[in-house]
Amino acid sequence: MGRPTTSLLVHIAASIVLWKVCSAEKEVAITLPEEAVATLGDGVTLQAAFDTSYRLVSVTWSKLHGNVTSQKRTSVLSYVPDLNINRAYGSYKERAKLLGMASLRIDPTKTEDEGTYALSIMTDERGTAEKFIHLALQVAPRVSVGPRNPYVTVVGESVSLACKVTDAKPNITSLYWEKDGARLEASSFLGKYSGGDAGTPSLTIRHVMRMDAGVYTCVAQNSVRSGEGHIELRVHYFASITSISEPVEVTVGDHVTFRCVAEGSPTPNITWSRDGLKFKASSDEAVGDVRTSALVLSGVALTDTGTYSCTARNGIGGPRTRNTHVDVVALDGGFTSTTVAIISGAAAGGLWLLICLCLLVYLLRKRRGGERKKFTYYYSDVQRRSNVATSEGGGSEHRRQVFLTERKSSNVAFEQRRLENGELII
Ligand SMILES: *[C@@H]1O[C@H](CO)[C@@H](O)[C@H](O)[C@H]1NC(C)=O
Ligand SMILES: *[C@@H]1O[C@H](CO)[C@@H](O)[C@H](O)[C@H]1NC(C)=O
Ligand SMILES: *[C@@H]1O[C@H](CO)[C@@H](O)[C@H](O)[C@H]1NC(C)=O
Repeated sequence: MGRPTTSLLVHIAASIVLWKVCSAEKEVAITLPEEAVATLGDGVTLQAAFDTSYRLVSVTWSKLHGNVTSQKRTSVLSYVPDLNINRAYGSYKERAKLLGMASLRIDPTKTEDEGTYALSIMTDERGTAEKFIHLALQVAPRVSVGPRNPYVTVVGESVSLACKVTDAKPNITSLYWEKDGARLEASSFLGKYSGGDAGTPSLTIRHVMRMDAGVYTCVAQNSVRSGEGHIELRVHYFASITSISEPVEVTVGDHVTFRCVAEGSPTPNITWSRDGLKFKASSDEAVGDVRTSALVLSGVALTDTGTYSCTARNGIGGPRTRNTHVDVVALDGGFTSTTVAIISGAAAGGLWLLICLCLLVYLLRKRRGGERKKFTYYYSDVQRRSNVATSEGGGSEHRRQVFLTERKSSNVAFEQRRLENGELII
């Protein structure tokens, strides 16, 4: 009986030794990479696992202050199955949780999450095993543009649109500008643009034109992703009058509508006037940069005839003015240009007829000869007076008097003739 008992005891002892050796080799094996990379704001999982044959007491995640040599730590999360504890602490409260056996999920990440984390596994017999992981956070470029939005300028000016990239981690690899969604190739517009790249982020636009107005976007990229900033460029330009109604001719009582269209940025205001006197527009509307104004003159009178001015102002450069005209003519007894032409034609014909008649009458009279003496007297009288004037050799004043006297005598002669004959001859 003694041998088998001894044999059994030896066997048990051997088994215990073997078991002890095996468990010493089997410590607590933690699987955890040394590095993890995440994008700030996104979630990250620190993948971890462990293997042990001891009974698990707790899984604890903590963050080190500084590097591995540091002893100060902040608790992130602990899991204690026996006490039914599974909770995150401090700023991780709402963001951290355990995934699977021991993985730590942080979502979303914050700037201060970057650093070294320790994973501690405590078992009932083996105490605590620990491993470390460093979390690096990358940051997408944050782009800000300026100097203000919208940026307002005037045609002909030069502008510089600033682009500032902050927080990019790692550093940006490229930077460019877009206008209304299309990439600006600074080199294809020699002298027009400058800057606008990683070396000189600000974009300078020389001699701004109306077509330069639009939305500009500064785009900066790093290995993480790209960041953008938008700025609207508004280009102001002077007012101009693109059209105004043609001059019109109307009759008394008519309605006249004048229209004036002006363009500019800011959208110009339109005023109507005649000889400095302002009129209120009957309608006025603006669509984009274009304003249309109408002036209605209803039931016009002759006094409404005149030149009407449309003036456009937008504060850029001086005001612009264009004129139109209305001619108001009388309805009855008045003359339109056509009737004036007819009447003047008829008058000319009538005058010729009259001259012919006069000539005829004169010739008839002459033949009768009754008037001959008086005319002789008249002519000889004029002759005499003018002789006196020249012989006396007087100045211009004297000659004028003589002339007046002559006029008088001719009137006298005419009156005499008229009275004597008792009839009128023109
Ligand atoms: C840890 O940080 C200390 C100072 O904070 C420094 O002296 C030490 O070299 C660092 N160790 C490592 C491994 O980076
Ligand atoms: C990032 O890159 C730009 C040029 O690409 C350089 O001017 C700047 O100094 C760099 N910034 C850092 C922090 O390395
Ligand atoms: C145009 O008229 C509006 C309203 O009366 C006024 O506020 C604005 O200042 C005017 N603009 C100019 C350029 O005169």
